[in-house]
Amino acid sequence: MHEDIEKILVSQEEIKKRVKELGEEISRDYKDKFPLFVCILRGAFVFLADLVREVHVPISVDFMAISSYGGKTESSGQVKILKDLDTPIEDRHVLIVEDIVDTGLTMDAVTRLLKTRKPKSIKICTLLDKVDRRIINIKVDYYGFRIPNSFVVGYGLDYEEKYRNLPYIGILKEKVYKGGSNN
Ligand code: PRP
Ligand code: MN
Ligand code: MG
Repeated sequence: MHEDIEKILVSQEEIKKRVKELGEEISRDYKDKFPLFVCILRGAFVFLADLVREVHVPISVDFMAISSYGGKTESSGQVKILKDLDTPIEDRHVLIVEDIVDTGLTMDAVTRLLKTRKPKSIKICTLLDKVDRRIINIKVDYYGFRIPNSFVVGYGLDYEEKYRNLPYIGILKEKVYKGGSNN
C-alpha cells in the first residue's frame, strides 16, 4: 500500500468484479443502441478503460475535459469545459462515464449542456457515488459503489494530480491534505 494511504476503501478485486457487473448491465440496456460513452477527463479515464472492455455490444467513445476544482480540495462552484466533445450527439444515446459524483455540480453542468444538443437519451454511470455531499440532486443511473464522505484517491481520482495510478480506491491520510474537504 502507498505510504500516504490510510486504508483501502475498495480493493482492486472488488472494483474488477463490480465493473464487470456494470458492463453486463450496460450491455443489456444498450443492445442495438450504439451508445456514445462520454468520458469525463481526467478522473474517469481509468474507469472508462476498464468498463468498455466489459461491454460486449457496439459503442463509441469520446472525451470531455471538465474541471470544477483548482489544485485544492474545495469546489470552486465553477465548472469549466477544458475540452469539448468532437462527436455530434444529436439523436445518439449518450452515457456519461464519471469516476465520482460528489456535490453533483459537474454532472449537472455537463448534462445540462449536452441536453441542448438533442441526444436521444442521456444517462450517467459513475464508479463512486458520494451521496452525502450532494448539493444538486442528480439522477445517477449506474453506480459502482456508494461511499461515505472521506477523502478518496486512486483508480483515476487525484489529490493535486497525484495518486491517479493507484489500482485501488484508498482513503488519503489526513496529514497529506490537512483540513481540506474532498473531491
Ligand atoms: C472531480 C471528479 C468529478 C468531480 C465530482 O473532478 O473527477 O469529475 O470532481 O465533483 P462534483 O460532483 O462535486 O462536481 P475534478 O474537477 O477534480 O477534475 P479531475 O477529474 O481532472 O480530477
Ligand atoms: Mn473529474
Ligand atoms: Mg480532481
